[in-house]
Amino acid sequence: MQKGKKIYEGKAKIIYETDNPDFVIQYFKDDATAFNAQKRGTVLEKGIVNNKISAKVFEYLEANNIPTHFEKMLSDREMLVKRVKIVPLEVIVRNRAAGSLCRNLGLEEGSALFCPVQEFCFKRDDLNDPLINESHIRALRLATDEALEKLKYYSFRINELMLDFFQALNLDLIDFKLEFGDCKGKIILADEISPDTCRLWEVGTGRKLDKDRFRHDLGNVEEAYQEVLKRVSGKS
Ligand code: TMP
Ligand code: ASP
Repeated sequence: MQKGKKIYEGKAKIIYETDNPDFVIQYFKDDATAFNAQKRGTVLEKGIVNNKISAKVFEYLEANNIPTHFEKMLSDREMLVKRVKIVPLEVIVRNRAAGSLCRNLGLEEGSALFCPVQEFCFKRDDLNDPLINESHIRALRLATDEALEKLKYYSFRINELMLDFFQALNLDLIDFKLEFGDCKGKIILADEISPDTCRLWEVGTGRKLDKDRFRHDLGNVEEAYQEVLKRVSGKS
């Protein structure tokens, strides 16, 4: 597979063309940003760790009938993925209160929820990715009704699967963010699944093993990412 020109560069990844129009290369950087890029930094080898963790999670989800853009690993920092048109929504699923849910609803961090919470944010950096609802999505035609049903179904199903996956590694999946894409008319899971996009707390100790260590200057950021990789790779 020949690497072509850069198509898009985001905060944590770069997308390159390939010689096959159906596939692109997703390259993972060490750059980290938080609070809509107001805070910037680098996390050493984060790109390598997130590439490997995402690959493992995508393989697991594919094996459980969730269609994803993942094709194969190409190198430490690159994976080959299907070319998609990204749905301009971030789909968040929460199992316990943390982050913006605590800020918005006055909840204590870690408090229990009676059922998982699903949220949509409009992917618009210039607007700070605002929280929106299904009615906004329909009114702005951000997704068709059919696509919206798929996003809801897949994200809850992915939550069930990922709860099991991380529980087996002694990690509590507090919440996570997904992005989906349209691939030849079919909705598939895209982007990445990593400590950048999930909150993962060690069972028992509550130790945070995710990007909150970077967001809130908790220290040992690299160690946290490496610890998740070690568990996901079965080395712990
Ligand atoms: P939040 O509590 O800050 O809204 O974040 C919810 C989840 O979504 C958390 O696991 C982190 C993830 N997330 C992203 O992946 N990208 C983002 O830009 C934001 C704001 C959150
Ligand atoms: N990724 C987002 C940003 O760069 C926010 C976050 O993950 O906290 O701003």
